[in-house]
Amino acid sequence: MSSRSQRFYDGFMLILGVFVGVLVGIVFMKAFSGGSGQFDDPDFIGATDERIRPIGRVALIGDPDVGVRPVVHTVVDSVSAPMSGPQVYNENCYLCHAAPGVGGAPVFGDVQAWAPRIAQGQELLVERVINGYQGEMGVMPPKGGRTDLSDEEILDALDFMLAEAQP
Ligand code: HEC
Repeated sequence: MSSRSQRFYDGFMLILGVFVGVLVGIVFMKAFSGGSGQFDDPDFIGATDERIRPIGRVALIGDPDVGVRPVVHTVVDSVSAPMSGPQVYNENCYLCHAAPGVGGAPVFGDVQAWAPRIAQGQELLVERVINGYQGEMGVMPPKGGRTDLSDEEILDALDFMLAEAQP
């Protein structure tokens, strides 16, 4: 054979080889899936999914089948029992109300600072602690910023603070 027809022959055989290989592959896969029918079997698919399941996955906040919930809820859930007054004070109110008092907040246990505030009456204090207010000294945020806490928890903290402010 001339070298030209030799090259043609080589190329032809190569293409033929690839073609036959693909064909055999298709036939093999058909036989494999058709034969046992396992690729249609939901149990088999489930087991396979299980085996090839990634070790980790990205959990989106709020995704119902992942145990990740918005941070605020997690905080609430982790404290299943309501917080006591002193607990709420120690976690929140003290940030501003501990001496020397941040942003003009009346200091915890400072009887003189509290006297005029107590004189305003319980009702106004309750309203202001829950809803917040802008006073002459500064801003008291609603619930001291812990709006995730119940009114009751906040008012227990208020009672705790007022008890310490009695003359
Ligand atoms: C971010 C700072 C901050 C936090 C946290 C905070 N307070 Fe205050 N609070 C203030 C400031 C400032 C004032 C004074 C505002 C003014 O009278 O000008 C104040 C005032 C008050 C008053 C007096 C209201 C009045 O009418 O005179 C009460 C009662 C009070 N806070 C309770 C609480 C309680 C209870 C908490 C915790 C749940 C809390 N505060 C958390 C800043 C804070």
